[in-house]
Amino acid sequence: MTETRDALIDAARDAARRAYAPYSGFHVGAALLLKNGDVVTGANVENASYGLTLCAETAAVAKIANEGWIGELAEVAIVGGRPDGDALIGTDPVNPCGRCRQILNEAAERSKTDILVHCASGDGSAVKSYKLSALLPAAFGPKDLGLID
Ligand code: THU
Repeated sequence: MTETRDALIDAARDAARRAYAPYSGFHVGAALLLKNGDVVTGANVENASYGLTLCAETAAVAKIANEGWIGELAEVAIVGGRPDGDALIGTDPVNPCGRCRQILNEAAERSKTDILVHCASGDGSAVKSYKLSALLPAAFGPKDLGLID
């Protein structure tokens, strides 16, 4: 539903304002819609040891896992760009990195949902939506370890 999609993208854009990204200058926000309608967000957290950076999606999934909601995921939106005041500059949709696809898959399998992932540009002009199974085909996940039927 476009209304849900757009609200989720707005929540992700708002979350991107809280990114800690002094090295790349690229702010990413992720918004996770839960089955009960709640929205949990995250933003990227960089580190002087660059490789330790946490992506926005990873930060958001850690939040729901820590609350006991890893099996409650319904849908995701990701927005990224370079900040310009309260706005984000960028015309290309931001796609989740490979590690984040795997991390989202953990929550999606636990939620028994092939979640929709909305990838939006910073300026909101472009959105591409994918099923997670299209972003990460033939995924390895908890089902492979016998944790899910
Ligand atoms: N980034 C994310 O937060 N999510 C992604 O899926 C792709 C990349 C962040 C990591 C880093 O802080 C910045 O974007 C530039 O790579």
